[in-house]
Amino acid sequence: MNSVIDNLLSRTSIPKATGPAPSDEQLEVLLQAAGRACDHKRLRPYRFIKIQGDDALAKFGQLMVASQTELKGELESDLAEKLSKKPFRAPLILAVVASVRDEPKVPEIEQIITAGCAAQLLVSAAHALDLAAMWRSGNMMYTQTMARGMGLTENESMVGLIYLGANPVGRSPAPVAFDSQEYLSEFN
Ligand SMILES: Cc1cc2nc3c(=O)[nH]c(=O)nc-3n(C[C@H](O)[C@H](O)[C@H](O)COP(=O)(O)O)c2cc1C
Repeated sequence: MNSVIDNLLSRTSIPKATGPAPSDEQLEVLLQAAGRACDHKRLRPYRFIKIQGDDALAKFGQLMVASQTELKGELESDLAEKLSKKPFRAPLILAVVASVRDEPKVPEIEQIITAGCAAQLLVSAAHALDLAAMWRSGNMMYTQTMARGMGLTENESMVGLIYLGANPVGRSPAPVAFDSQEYLSEFN
């Protein structure tokens, strides 16, 4: 099988990434791959925010706690503590942001899909580079607290967090089998 297809078919998420973080060169490859997302009118309706290093990861953990507090009220201290540590599941997180452009011919949903495609390409390219990657989110991505903390503008929303690092076990777990025919029908 062609190696690109082989990479696409073998990608699985790696929940716990270790250091080192992707190098600047690797990060550039990932971003270039994201930039190849299908994109109606080439609006590039996305941007990426790098969260790297203990201070930034800890600060983002606090933002996750504040966001969850907006949704659920004051958290039990052990829950808050656990949540605040979640960003440390990887040495680097790329937050993917949808930045919806003012273009009447391209509806918002198409622009958000493009940002999602960019996120998928980041994850697929990371696998091709033998990095560990996992796309995560949660309700706390979509609060006012999160938007303010991440500096999003009115036309922006969080698409997800791509956790990135090294793969501690070397190989990716095998993908769950997919019975494609169950998902395919024919229009007639
Ligand atoms: C928009 C989006 C949000 C996701 N959020 C989470 C999440 O918060 N936690 C999680 O465990 N998986 C989340 N996932 C799923 C994982 O990234 C992953 O795809 C899933 O666990 C299936 O594993 P696989 O990628 O190895 O097939 C999300 C996926 C997408 C597309």
